[in-house]
Amino acid sequence: MIIVIKNRSSTHLGIRLKTIADMVDECEVLVDIGTDHGLLPIYLLEKKIIIKAIATDICISPLEQAKKNAKKKSLLNKMDFIVSDGLNKINKKFNYIVIAGLGTRTIVNILKNAKIKLNKDHKIIVQSNNGCYLVRKWGYLNGLIIEDEKMIKENKIYYEIIKFKFDDNKNKVLYSENDLIFGPILLKNKDLLLKERIEKEQEKLLDIIKKIPKNKTLETRNVTLKYDRNKEILDYLNL
Ligand SMILES: C[S@@+](CC[C@H](N)C(=O)[O-])C[C@H]1O[C@@H](n2cnc3c(N)ncnc32)[C@H](O)[C@@H]1O
Repeated sequence: MIIVIKNRSSTHLGIRLKTIADMVDECEVLVDIGTDHGLLPIYLLEKKIIIKAIATDICISPLEQAKKNAKKKSLLNKMDFIVSDGLNKINKKFNYIVIAGLGTRTIVNILKNAKIKLNKDHKIIVQSNNGCYLVRKWGYLNGLIIEDEKMIKENKIYYEIIKFKFDDNKNKVLYSENDLIFGPILLKNKDLLLKERIEKEQEKLLDIIKKIPKNKTLETRNVTLKYDRNKEILDYLNL
C-alpha cells in the first residue's frame, strides 16, 4: 500500500497555535509579539477573525520570513512588520496582544515594559514555554483577570494558554496561590490534561524524593512540599 503524505503548507498551524487562534475574538487589530514566521496573524487574517495585524519580533530575519509568507497569501496590505522588543516600538492602536512561545520571565518583562500602553480595551493571550505562575501572578497584581484558559499537549509537551482581560472591579476576583500555580479555570473545569500533567510530575518527584540522601533535609522538604501540593490538587481533580 502506498501512503501519500501531503506537504503541509509553510503556514500550517499546529495544535498549540490553533488553540491560541481559537481563543482570539473577532477584533480589528492584533499584535503578535515574537511572531517568528507570522503563522498566527496570517491564519487569523485568512479566517477574517482580525482585520489587521502587527507582526513584531526582536529579530529581523524571522520577520523577513513572515513577510514572505504574508506575500504568498496576498496579505501584505493587512500586516505591519516591526522589529521591536515587546511593545516598545509599537505606537499604533491595537485591541489584542498575543505573546506565545517565549519563556515566562521574558513574557513578564514584555508585559511590565508594555504596562503604560495597556488598558481595559485590550485583551492579552499568553503561552509560556516554562510555566505560567509568574505570568498569572503579574496579571493578578496588575489588574488583569483570567477570562479563559486551555491546556494542550503537542509532541508530548504540555502548554497552558491564558486569556487575560482587565478587571472592571465590579466583582473583584480573588485568586488563591493554587489558582496562580495551576490556573483557576483549569482547576474549575477539572481539566483532564492538567490532571495528566500533575500525575506525570508526581512520578518524577517521587523518584527524586527516593534518591535524595537522608541528610539533605532542605532539598527533601522542597520536593516534598511540591509533591504534597500536587497531591492535594489531584485529590480535588479526582473528586
Ligand atoms: C519560539 S518563537 C515563537 C513563535 C510564535 N510566537 C509561536 O508561538 O510559535 C519566539 C520568537 O520570539 C522572538 N522574541 C524573543 N524575545 C522577544 C522579545 N522580547 N520581543 C519580541 N520578540 C521576541 C524570537 O526572535 C522568536 O522569533
